[in-house]
Formats: sequence, C-alpha cells, structure tokens
Amino acid sequence: MAYLLVYGKLPTSRELARYKEHLGEMRDIPQALKDVLERIPASANPMDVMRTGCSMLGALEPEDQFHDEKYVADRLMAAFPSIMLYWYHYAHHGRRIDTQTDEDSLAGHFLHLLHGKKPDELLRRCTDVSLILYAEHEFNASTFVARVTVSTRSDIYSSVTSAIGALKGPLHGGANEAAMLLIQKFNSPDEAEKGVMELLARKELIMGFGHRVYKKEDPRSVVIQKWAKDLCQHNDTMNLYNTALRIDEVVRREKKMFTNLDFYSAVAYRECGIPIELFTPLFVVSRTSGWTAHILEQRHNNKLIRPSADYTGPEPRAYLPLSDRG
Ligand code: COA
Repeated sequence: MAYLLVYGKLPTSRELARYKEHLGEMRDIPQALKDVLERIPASANPMDVMRTGCSMLGALEPEDQFHDEKYVADRLMAAFPSIMLYWYHYAHHGRRIDTQTDEDSLAGHFLHLLHGKKPDELLRRCTDVSLILYAEHEFNASTFVARVTVSTRSDIYSSVTSAIGALKGPLHGGANEAAMLLIQKFNSPDEAEKGVMELLARKELIMGFGHRVYKKEDPRSVVIQKWAKDLCQHNDTMNLYNTALRIDEVVRREKKMFTNLDFYSAVAYRECGIPIELFTPLFVVSRTSGWTAHILEQRHNNKLIRPSADYTGPEPRAYLPLSDRG
C-alpha cells in the first residue's frame, strides 16, 4: 500500500522484496535523536513525541542532502516505529531498545519492538490491515495541513510535522484513543447502554461516530469491526466486543449515526496488546504514506494554498495615537 501511494503503482514481487529490504535498512535512528527522545518525560503525550521526533530527524537529515525526495517518505515510515518505541521503552522502563528487528512488515516490526518478541500472526495481520485502512483518506484535516505547508515550498519533514499536530486532535486521529477510553468505562453492554443514553441526553459527542464525508456508513469500519470481533473471540474477551457493539447499536438507534474507522480499530488495537496512548501514533506510521504522496503531488503541480477570509469583525475605526487614547 505504501509503495502504491508513494511510487504510484503496485510493485512487482521483486520490487516489493527490494522495497521491504530498503525500509528495513532505514529503521535505525541517529544517536542525537535518541538523546532528544531520552529527554522527553514519560508523562508526555506520545503524539508530541512523534512530532518532535519528525522535526529532529529533519534537522539531522535535511531533505536537500538526498537525491530523491521519495527517500524522505520511506525514511519517515521506517523510522517512526523506532522513534515511538525507543522513547516509550526508555521513558517507561528505562530501557534503551535495539530498533532493528528481522520482521519484513511495518506491522510486524512495530509489534515486535513493542512487545520485544515475534508477534502472533493473527495480531500482526490485524495490525497490517489497520495500517492499510488508515494509510490514505483524501483531503482530511491533517493531509490538508501537510499540503498547505509544502505549498509554501517548505520541506517534507516540516509538512509531516504539521500534519502530526493536526492528527493529534480527538475530532481527527485522536478519536481512536477517545473511543477506547469511552468503551472501557463500561463493564457490560447494559451499563454501556445506560451510560451512552446519558451522554446523548447531555448532547455530548460520542467518539468514533460520524464522519464529514461519509453520511451512511464508513466502509473501512466494516472491515476492522470483523477483525475486532475475531480477535475478541480469539482472546476470549467477547464482553468487550459486545459492550462496543451495544454502544454502536444505541448510537445508530438514537442518532442514526454510524461508526467510523476509529471505533472498532480501538477494540482491535486493544486486543493486539497496544497501549491506548500509542493508538494515534500508530495512525501516524500508516498515514505518513498518504501524507507524503499528497506532499509530492502538491509539490509537482504547486500553487500556494492561501484561502481568503470573509471578514465579519468591527467596522473600520479611526486610528488614535497612543498619547490620545487616555
Ligand atoms: N456524537 C454525537 N453527535 C454527533 C457526533 C457524534 N460523534 N458527530 C456529529 N454529531 C451531531 C452534531 O452534534 C450535530 O448535531 P446538531 O445538528 O444537533 O448540532 C450533527 O450531528 C452534525 O454534526 P456535524 O458536527 O455538523 O458533523 P461534522 O461533519 O462537522 O463532524 C465529525 C464530523 C467527525 C467531526 C463529528 O462526527 C465528530 O466530532 N465525531 C466524533 C469524533 C470522531 O470520531 N472523529 C473521527 C473522524 S474519522
């Protein structure tokens, strides 16, 4: 999927093998970046770590030192799991991990670094599918931000850094974490029904529902819901799945709203043993392919993106020098 987005075509099996090898060779991060990551406290929001990591890598390996801009896209995809998990293990357990593994997929590499061992194939495949679903989604807020930044002729790292800032918010990428925090508040489907009815009565937003573009159904949600169910069956945690399902049914019944990709992704990630605070950073790993594809497209047919404003403020007032203003 990443190859398709960044290189514009599906790879042959030879190209795919070479691409995986190429990404595998770019997983290490420089010592100066590790030093910065070690200074970020355990209490930090991991999306701030991703943002800082991206920015620091851009300072150490500026784009103009590479002959091919696609290298930066690949470098970021390969380095992001290392940035996230080097910081995570150091900040939480004081351990400096080796950021290389022999995994040949981004999903397998991420899970291996997280859990320190080869992942179970079912969990690896589920994470893989989720990365595919999250990779690209047209003109969402973070992609738009990335395009605005590069439209000023700025560099790829700066564009991705600004996109990470936009993705962090709970109305965008942060919704998967917010959805899990909601689901895990309830111990049973009945408790969830009661709690969600109360939220709706207070006109609160239910995270993981609704979408700016889709109005009937988010087709990505159907795919990840099946994975969430399969993993809950596999892990014998059907109470969690049934609680999520009841929230889905209540919101559908009461608000005629549907789950977006974030809702059941939260359940699937939880069943893959991924800590909640790493849900949105994992979204970054995936969406980097979509962001960078947009960045390259914008750059190659560029015009500065500069919306004009419809002014609605006060009428013009006469300027008074400071000495006359009392
Ligand atoms: N829970 C409860 N009500 C919701 C809702 C939600 N998740 N999403 C929208 N609504 C309601 C709004 O309150 C609004 O009600 P009103 O007309 O009574 O004011 C109505 O539905 C229309 O919502 P609107 O804000 O115009 O939709 P939007 O297209 O601007 O918003 C989202 C899209 C995604 C920002 C919005 O659905 C949302 O905030 N969802 C929760 C966050 C989330 O899951 N984000 C991930 C997106 S992939």
